[in-house]
Formats: sequence, C-alpha cells, structure tokens
Amino acid sequence: MAPLRPRPGILEIEPYVGGKAEVEGMTNVVKLSANEAALGPSPKATAALRAALPVVHRYPDGGARALRQAIGARFDVDPGRIVCGSGSDELIQLLMRAYAGPGDEVLYSAHGFLMYRLCALAIGATPVAAPECCLKTDVDAMLARVTSRTRAVFVANPNNPTGSYLTRDELARLHAGLPDDVLLVIDAAYAEYIGRDDYTTGQELAERAGNVVMTRTFSKLFGLAALRLGWLYGPPHVIDVLHRVRGPFNVSALAQTAGIAALEDLEHQERERANNDCWRPWLAEQLAALGLRAHPSVANFVLVGFADADGSSARAASAWLERHGILARPMAAYGLPHCLRISVGREAENQAVVERLREFVA
Ligand SMILES: Cc1ncc(COP(=O)(O)O)c(C=O)c1O
Repeated sequence: MAPLRPRPGILEIEPYVGGKAEVEGMTNVVKLSANEAALGPSPKATAALRAALPVVHRYPDGGARALRQAIGARFDVDPGRIVCGSGSDELIQLLMRAYAGPGDEVLYSAHGFLMYRLCALAIGATPVAAPECCLKTDVDAMLARVTSRTRAVFVANPNNPTGSYLTRDELARLHAGLPDDVLLVIDAAYAEYIGRDDYTTGQELAERAGNVVMTRTFSKLFGLAALRLGWLYGPPHVIDVLHRVRGPFNVSALAQTAGIAALEDLEHQERERANNDCWRPWLAEQLAALGLRAHPSVANFVLVGFADADGSSARAASAWLERHGILARPMAAYGLPHCLRISVGREAENQAVVERLREFVA
C-alpha cells in the first residue's frame, strides 16, 4: 500500500516560527521579537475578561454581532461588511482558501509578511514574490508579475518586517492595474500606529471596489495578541463567501468581550501610540548612531541591518542580546539574514537593547 502523503506543496512549508518568548534559566526577559503592544493590554479589557469568566461554558455568538457593531461605530464602517477572525492570520487563510487553489498564483512582495507564502503553499497555490525596491513594495514590479493565473495579491501596509508603506496614491495605482477578478488584500495590521497624511488603511478602496478587502488586528495597538482577534472589511459578496468557509465559532467569547472593551479604552490606545511615537524614532536614531542601518519604519518596530551580508553579525548580535535576556527577531526567514527586527518596547526596554547593542558593536 502507498504511504499516506499530504497534498503537494505541504512539505515545502517551513513551519512559521513566532518571535521567541523565553530564554532558558531567565525569568525577566525583554521580549521585542513579535511587535506586540509595548504597554500590554487595556485594563478595561482585562476587567471585562474577568467578568466574562463565569459564562465560558456557553458558546460564543458565532456572528460576533456586538463586536462588529463596536468596530463599525469606531471605524465608521458597515458592521454587515465585517468578518471577525481568530487573528488576522485566520482571515488571510480563509481568503486564500476561498479565492485560490492548486494551479493558481498568489502574489506578494519579496519581503512581505511570511504568512502569505505559507498560506499559499498550504492550499496548493503557487506563491509568487515580486522584487522590492529599497525594502519597499514596488508597485510596478508587482503589476509586472500579474498573470492570467494570479488570483490574489497580498500587501501588508505598512509591511512587516520592513516597516515601509505604500502611500494612498501608490496603493490606488496597484489596485488600478489589477484585473477585476484578482482579489487585493490590504493587510493593515499596524494601521493604528500611523499618523501620516498620505497613508491609508485601504478602507476607502475596500468600500468602493468589488475586489478589495482590508484586514485589521487587535494584536498590535490593542494589545490582545494572546486572544487571537482580527477583522476584515470588504464587499458584501466576499463577506458572504467568508461566512460560508469560516468555522461557526471562530472567535472566542473572551476575545469578543475583550475586543469591545479595548476599543472603548481610548486612553490606553493613546498611551500606546504615544509610547511608540516617542521611542521608535529614538530607537532608530540610537541604532544609526551605533553604525547600524535602521530602516525607516512607520510601525511599532525597527528593522536593523548589520554590515555582513551573510548574516554572521546579525546572528551574533541576536545571540548576544539573548544572553542578556533580550529577544529580537532574526530575519533569515524573510530573506534578510543580515537584519534583526526590534519591536518598540517600554522606555527601560528600549534603553536596554541599545545599551547591549552598543557593547556588541564595541
Ligand atoms: C503584517 C501582519 N499581518 C498580520 C499579522 C497577524 O496578526 P494576527 O495576530 O492578527 O493574526 C501580523 C503579525 O505579526 C503582521 O505583522
């Protein structure tokens, strides 16, 4: 009998390795490896979670109605055009499954968020990476790689791990160059950190175009990464498709409850944003002063380049930081072996990482 085998493509997947969270033998590690909220969850969200614990024997509202209404009110979107997911990762997977399959191509930019490639492989589609220009999505290069087999284009805006973003005009140009039957997914996971006039989350495009969706998350500024909560906004026919393919209770009751409370806690959101606005430029400046390449970022992390292209310095720096209880993210899986990605933390954490890198460089 033939041995049991998964579908073609599955064994090509290198399982996603998240940002390291522990160092053996250390209790107080500084975790700057997963772009989480520096200041933690909203106290209002944790209080709501505690209050919800006595009813966890009940199934959640499968339609996440109250949460969708709260998101709709906050972001001025129609709750009927929102689908919530177990993190935006789940929404990315559902979109892939619903709109692409074996023989189809899924397009993204070379240093785009890793999940696009992994999810494409998981459904048997062909991942296609367009080259970037200066670690930024190159609209022309993306459009040049669209073929009759392209079914979906994924753009993280801003992108993780590069921290760069496409302006409203660039995003509009990308969309204008795509055929109507190609889905454009604008992944705005870090949108809440950005205060630039020429930036767009993609919400207006998702509002008016039949082939655009915007994904968002509660894992970053809202500080709820452990609960797994994301949402998507798009045209009614895509929403209908996603409701057919999602699990009936894909978002836990605790995630829904905490999401609503976190949305209401404007003060906490402002603190997190202010922390980032203060420390991201500081971190970039300090790293540059050490002779490292701090790539311009609009998100809550900085991509740092080390001199040797083979990645030996970046690996050594990562090991050095880890020995001192600081976790940054090595970037080899993103095709950037000479880089580390450092999330913006609290004041003392940012100072600690710079101090240790100063010693390393010396
Ligand atoms: C660009 C981008 N999209 C999506 C995600 C996934 O977020 P979530 O926690 O909502 O699944 C991340 C997480 O790091 C990300 O960087």
